[in-house]
Amino acid sequence: MAESNRTASFTLDGKSHELPVLSPTEGPDVVDIRKLYSNADVFTYDPGFTSTAACESAITFIDGDEGVLLHRGYPIGQLAEKSHYLEVCYLLLYGELPSADKLETFETTVTRHTMIHEQMHNFFRGFRRDAHPMATMVGVVGAMSAFYHDSTDINDSWQREVASFRLIAKMPTIAAMAYKYSIGQPFIYPRNDLDYAANFLNMCFSVPSERYDVDPILARAMDRIFTLHADHEQNASTSTVRLASSSGANPFACIAAGIACLWGPAHGGANQACLEMLRQIGTVDRIPEFIARAKDKDDPFRLMGFGHRVYKNFDPRATVMKQSADEVLELLGIEDNPTLQVAKELEKQALADPYFAEKKLFPNVDFYSGIILEAMGFPTSMFTPIFALSRTVGWISQWKEQLSDPALKIGRPRQLYTGAAQRDYVDVENR
Ligand code: CMC
Repeated sequence: MAESNRTASFTLDGKSHELPVLSPTEGPDVVDIRKLYSNADVFTYDPGFTSTAACESAITFIDGDEGVLLHRGYPIGQLAEKSHYLEVCYLLLYGELPSADKLETFETTVTRHTMIHEQMHNFFRGFRRDAHPMATMVGVVGAMSAFYHDSTDINDSWQREVASFRLIAKMPTIAAMAYKYSIGQPFIYPRNDLDYAANFLNMCFSVPSERYDVDPILARAMDRIFTLHADHEQNASTSTVRLASSSGANPFACIAAGIACLWGPAHGGANQACLEMLRQIGTVDRIPEFIARAKDKDDPFRLMGFGHRVYKNFDPRATVMKQSADEVLELLGIEDNPTLQVAKELEKQALADPYFAEKKLFPNVDFYSGIILEAMGFPTSMFTPIFALSRTVGWISQWKEQLSDPALKIGRPRQLYTGAAQRDYVDVENR
């Protein structure tokens, strides 16, 4: 972070105040208001953090107007095409692309941590038999701090490293187990001869009684979904992880908090909500009715999978995901699936509608990821767990970065208080 040669000044009650301006590597300058309260006795007001940088970060950069997403400087399109998920994990965690040796060591280490403690199987069995996999994941990941005491000391760099590996390696196992549990099938142990994505598909779709071979094209599509969701700057769940971690909470508790936040339909829950909406629309002829509802101010209905807080031009992840969706649908020969037909037609009609153009509402990554996951055979309840497992590396990278930031303070937003002014207690008989 560099001091810029600009300063911001403002006048309050006739007194002028100067604020330093900081320059990022990319993106708009940032007005440093850290001393604002002590110098001017005022707070700033910014619900939803639309104009507030809450931290310094060197991991991911987004330019929402231009549709740019960079991880450590590398465009997401290049990473999705030429790299793969575990290499992107290394990049996010350590800042540089690995050499071949380093990548091999990293992949071996992740692979060796894929099993969960056997006793955790009992913990799973405590959930109601048809629990939503996200509910199970929030609980099980939080409970990892009870099973892996030896990697909860955040002041020990080795323990931080081990916790990172454990989370990245075990999250697919946990997500697949949460799924198997919800459908009453036996848990499938990880297979370390398969790559990260193929192993996940195997744990989700194989059963002990039948042979299951993972299709390499589907494994590649799965890996791409993981890659496209790996990190996304200071979104709601990442900010939740950072806020939880700012108090010194252990990594498993912080990631469980991130998973809980991700579940909401405005965030990671949008992929499930989107597919459910497509099914609710049902047939192509009903699309205009739903578009009209989305435009109606008095109707809370929104087109799920459309719009984004930051991307106001296009979502670069959606561009890659759309291409992947076409490949998977062609491979599986299910281009005429009714839900998918509704999706394609909805996309066409919404993009041609001036309401969506004026408000800069485009299909986001979740619109297409839901279509691919549906085609692969995942039920909608697994969409958000898959997002959570993909995003774990982003949460971990941001968590590690925050812990090594000398400017780290416990997160403590202020407020614009609009409640009752101070008043005296009234005895009950006088009320
Ligand atoms: N359908 C219809 N109208 C919409 C939609 C939508 N999907 N999204 C935004 N609008 C309208 C909204 O009503 C508002 O209109 P007006 O200015 O007349 O009040 C305007 O567009 C701006 O909306 P906003 O809610 O102020 O924008 P935001 O930046 O706070 O919200 C969003 C972003 C993603 C929460 C929102 O677009 C949304 O709810 N989309 C549907 C849910 C979804 O797909 N979420 C996944 C996001 S991508 C994955 C992730 O990062 O988690």
